[in-house]
Amino acid sequence: MSASSDRKGQVILITGGGSGMGRLAARNFCQQGALVAVFDVNEEGLAETAQGVEGLSTWKVDITDFAAVQAAVAELESKLGPLTGVYNAAAIMPFGKILEHNNAVQHKVMDINFGGFINITQATLPGMVARGRGDFISFASSAGLLPIMYAGVYAASKAAVAMYTEILYHENINSGVRFVCVCPAVVKTPLLQQAKDTVWPKMLDQGAPLDPQEVIDDIETVLNNGKFWVYSGKGTETGTRIRRFFPGLIWKQVHKTEGF
Ligand SMILES: NC(=O)c1ccc[n+]([C@@H]2O[C@H](COP(=O)([O-])OP(=O)(O)OC[C@H]3O[C@@H](n4cnc5c(N)ncnc54)[C@H](O)[C@@H]3O)[C@@H](O)[C@H]2O)c1
Repeated sequence: MSASSDRKGQVILITGGGSGMGRLAARNFCQQGALVAVFDVNEEGLAETAQGVEGLSTWKVDITDFAAVQAAVAELESKLGPLTGVYNAAAIMPFGKILEHNNAVQHKVMDINFGGFINITQATLPGMVARGRGDFISFASSAGLLPIMYAGVYAASKAAVAMYTEILYHENINSGVRFVCVCPAVVKTPLLQQAKDTVWPKMLDQGAPLDPQEVIDDIETVLNNGKFWVYSGKGTETGTRIRRFFPGLIWKQVHKTEGF
């Protein structure tokens, strides 16, 4: 469980909290005393997240709709109080070889994973910066840092989230808001099924999927250490260094593993 077990007085927004890591974080934070607002498009998922949890409110919001996001953020802040934390977990992950991957699907991935993230940033962060406090958590992915076959548009959307967050952090470095960019390896959540239903890169079978709680705990550790990058998963951080200095080595391994 996270190092900060008392979250009384905190008001946290979690996008994509109708499933996976967002759901886990939402339930953890409520148990620790926070008021948590969850945005998701999946009503059934929202209801499951909220079941039996005190302090958790759910909002059916599509994060690609900026007007809807702004209205929901204004409403939640008037009901629960000013936001003290935002966890950007909403995403989709259909895979495909770029030239064979449906055009509309590729645009949808960018619209949700990156466009939706821009919307949440602009609807929530100005208030936290003005108040001089808060935690802003971006879920990117190791896929945004380490290229693999078939993940093209998903990886590009996550690379965009990572770069945008890094610049956001430095533009607001003295604001009092803490930023982290979360780049885990494969995590055991329902998201994986979306890739499995399309095409599954053999590279992703190289280790056991991470427990979602491990990622949530790593975020807390990085926040408390005043750092920025969360590299959950054995070899993730080392992989990013190899990628930077010897990109050919990574690609050699990818080609060998995928068999072309
Ligand atoms: N699971 C992994 O292996 C893994 C690895 C690295 C990074 N990540 C990232 O971590 C984050 C959380 O992933 P997860 O594995 O918990 O996923 P998940 O699929 O379990 O949950 C994602 C949630 O986002 C919601 N969502 C999708 N489109 C939306 C929209 N337009 N508006 C609002 N909500 C929407 C979905 O309904 C779903 O409930 C994602 O950003 C993902 O890219 C996941």
